Amino acid sequence: MPPFSATGSTPFPMNIGPYALANNLFVAPMAGVTDRPFRQLSKKLGAGYAVSEMVTSRRDLWDSLKTSRRANHEGEDAPIAVQIAGTDAQMMADAAAYNIARGAQIIDINMGCPAKKVCNKWAGSALMQDETLALQIVEAVVAACAPHHVPVTLKMRTGWCQAEKNALTIARAAENAGVQMITVHGRTREQGYKGAAEYDTIAAVKAALRIPVVANGDISSPERARDVLAYTGADAVMIGRAAQGRPWIFREVAHFLATGTHLAPPLVAEVERLLVDHLRDHYTLYGEFTGVRTARKHIGWYVKTLPGGEAFRGRMNLLEDCEAQLKAVSGFFQELGEHMDRIPAGAESAGNENSPAKKNSYKNEEEAAA
Ligand SMILES: Cc1cc2nc3c(=O)[nH]c(=O)nc-3n(C[C@H](O)[C@H](O)[C@H](O)COP(=O)(O)O)c2cc1C
Repeated sequence: MPPFSATGSTPFPMNIGPYALANNLFVAPMAGVTDRPFRQLSKKLGAGYAVSEMVTSRRDLWDSLKTSRRANHEGEDAPIAVQIAGTDAQMMADAAAYNIARGAQIIDINMGCPAKKVCNKWAGSALMQDETLALQIVEAVVAACAPHHVPVTLKMRTGWCQAEKNALTIARAAENAGVQMITVHGRTREQGYKGAAEYDTIAAVKAALRIPVVANGDISSPERARDVLAYTGADAVMIGRAAQGRPWIFREVAHFLATGTHLAPPLVAEVERLLVDHLRDHYTLYGEFTGVRTARKHIGWYVKTLPGGEAFRGRMNLLEDCEAQLKAVSGFFQELGEHMDRIPAGAESAGNENSPAKKNSYKNEEEAAA
């Protein structure tokens, strides 16, 4: 699929360094969510690009099960992009080299995550408060990646707080230092996930830079994707929470941008198939014990807004083995399929603004941070 503009035309190729992307609809990195199975599924359903969950720059954690799972890219489609998080320029450079040795083709620096576990150590969006350190990290990572011809990208917020929106300053400095794409989430660090994302800062960053700029924050419908592309002039949009339990949002947005019309919601039987395949892939990565438990949140997102979904979620959370979980999921969708062919159009909003899933997202992110 080609890149899309707000008007459905395809005016530019979307590249990161040497990598031509399938389109300009990206799935956002979400710790504890966008693992390899979810990234693969999102790409299969229309996302043009996916970045891994953050990998810590702390060497002592690289051998942990969590980090080694995150650094495992077996079977993943190129380009393989890995996000790194940390507070020290040399450690971040080492983390870049470590991930390149394990298959990373693009390195993304995390200056967007507000989670405490990261911020207490002065990483994630907290780095935006210290522009000197932020730039030192960018320069060190670019220098570590250059010999391998690996492009470096940066994900940030609009600033530390309302009074200090320094995204533009940092973006300019990062571009000059060699960063090849910048994503801006339209909130400050102080906001967490409260309030609405604003797109003026993203538009200002886009207007000032030559490298591609990606707009992120509260994009939960095809119309919103179109409007944000038009308003900011951004080269791409990145979707996070609205893709939880709804990975087909990417093909819906792609179809809308290309044609101006809406795709029908997916067939119940298709959602069952997608979820069952997602679960099998998930168990393969995590094993039975962890896999069954970590799959619960995904299943919950898929069924959350479907008729009978809340009650099913309660029952499903008690199941402790893969076969029982798979059987329950299939049973739920087969029963639903007796009442309807397609999932209801209004039910496609599990990750949208103001949903309980969204309210919990800050907590989830904190829990999932490395
Ligand atoms: C559960 C969760 C985990 C996240 N983890 C990361 C992360 O590891 N790195 C990062 O840069 N942003 C992370 N984010 C932020 C998202 O990438 C994105 O910027 C944010 O959710 C806003 O986009 P949205 O409104 O489309 O969800 C996370 C968000 C959530 C909800």
